[in-house]
Amino acid sequence: MTNLMIPMWTTWSLRARICVLLGGMFLSALIAGLALLWIFSSDQILEENEPSSRSAITVAAGLNAALAASTRPDAILAAFVDQLGSTPADAIRFRRDGEVHAPEQGKTSGKVPEWFVKALFVPDLAQHIPVLVQGRRVGDLIFEPDLSAQIYEKWIGFLSLLGSLVGMALLAGLLSFVTIGAALQPLRDLAEGLARLRTGDFSKKVDCSGPPEVRESCLSVNELALTLGRLSSENRSLLRRMISIQDEERRDISRELHDELGPLLFAIRANVTAMIDDCGSGTNRSMGEERVLQAVEALQIANRRILERLRPMLIEELGLDASIQKLLRDVHTQVPEMAVTFEIDPRIVTADSVVAQTVYRLLQEGITNVLKHAGASKMSVKTEVTNEAILVEVADNGARAPLEPKFGRGLTGMQERLRALEGKFDYIRADGWTTIRCSLPLAAPD
Ligand SMILES: Nc1ncnc2c1ncn2[C@@H]1O[C@H](COP(=O)(O)OP(=O)(O)OP(=O)(O)O)[C@@H](O)[C@H]1O
Ligand SMILES: [Mg+2]
Repeated sequence: MTNLMIPMWTTWSLRARICVLLGGMFLSALIAGLALLWIFSSDQILEENEPSSRSAITVAAGLNAALAASTRPDAILAAFVDQLGSTPADAIRFRRDGEVHAPEQGKTSGKVPEWFVKALFVPDLAQHIPVLVQGRRVGDLIFEPDLSAQIYEKWIGFLSLLGSLVGMALLAGLLSFVTIGAALQPLRDLAEGLARLRTGDFSKKVDCSGPPEVRESCLSVNELALTLGRLSSENRSLLRRMISIQDEERRDISRELHDELGPLLFAIRANVTAMIDDCGSGTNRSMGEERVLQAVEALQIANRRILERLRPMLIEELGLDASIQKLLRDVHTQVPEMAVTFEIDPRIVTADSVVAQTVYRLLQEGITNVLKHAGASKMSVKTEVTNEAILVEVADNGARAPLEPKFGRGLTGMQERLRALEGKFDYIRADGWTTIRCSLPLAAPD
């Protein structure tokens, strides 16, 4: 419905519009030329034949006077007719009364098409002047000028007008086609530049060529690219800063938990154990203390788990490879029925510490999401080192994953970490599998 309402010409290319405009201009010029030719040609023919027409009248008057004054008018008339010649093509002819009028020959030489002659509206210039002998009409002096040369002249004029306009239209069309193509090239470069900006590529400049108006736009786009590039790099460093502050904070909290809460819990547990030992077993009091002991032990386990999440010690102690193995072993402990396959590239040890930390966090969140949301029976974990980049993939065959997930803290954190390192994040739902695919450089950018 909306498409029907849009005028058709709005879908035409600039080239098509200019060609139609030029075509319209040349067509109007042709029509105007033809109209002028048509309006003035009959007047012109009349004007051109006016002297001959007047001469014919004068000749007829002279003849009639001579015939009236003569005693042998028949002989004079015969001599006059002999002088005129007898072909119907002659402009002045004598026709006796009762003589059958010879069919009029074509006014043109046959080179001009009949439709053109008709279109010209050639005026009828024929004159029939009566010839009198002793007051009696003996015939007519007929004046019928041959217009073929004049009509042919108009026809040549028409052909020249048509030919020159068609030639000019073709030439103008060709020139505008080439010129517009050249003029549009800078606009195409500009559009490509803007498309690059949209994809986040701020490095390549637009080639500033073409007319000044387009050049100005190109310069503005290049400036915009510079600004966006600067903002993007500032944004990345802010993100890196934010993540490192986050990690530092986690480290501080884990240290506090370890140094403050750990000894306290240990002390409570030791004291409760001592109390239980003092009281012996089987009494009501020792049952209560036993429960306190169990609660303290559960608190210690929870504390260790929180510490583990906050600060995976293994990365620093044993390296990324072993930390990932530990993560996978924990999965097996938590969900033994899940079939976990993994492929850890040994070259992953070459990742620098920030990248190693990021890879670990990505896997940790990816795996946690599978356990939390997917309802999967199979999970596959993969890290691969290629051309100074690391590919991290966590896939599962769970059916609960949405096509477009609503990003929570986990996926947002993953994206932020990757953006800070100029990495890429993809969430893919295909063939019954959900895949989180991340790629990041082996070394963190400066
Ligand atoms: N492997 C997966 N299977 C199914 N759904 C998933 C999976 N990974 C992510 N999702 C969907 O994406 C959503 C967002 O995940 P995200 O990790 O950002 O948040 P969350 O896990 O819900 O909470 P948290 O902030 O604690 O991580 C989830 O709520 C879930 O619907
Ligand atoms: Mg999550």
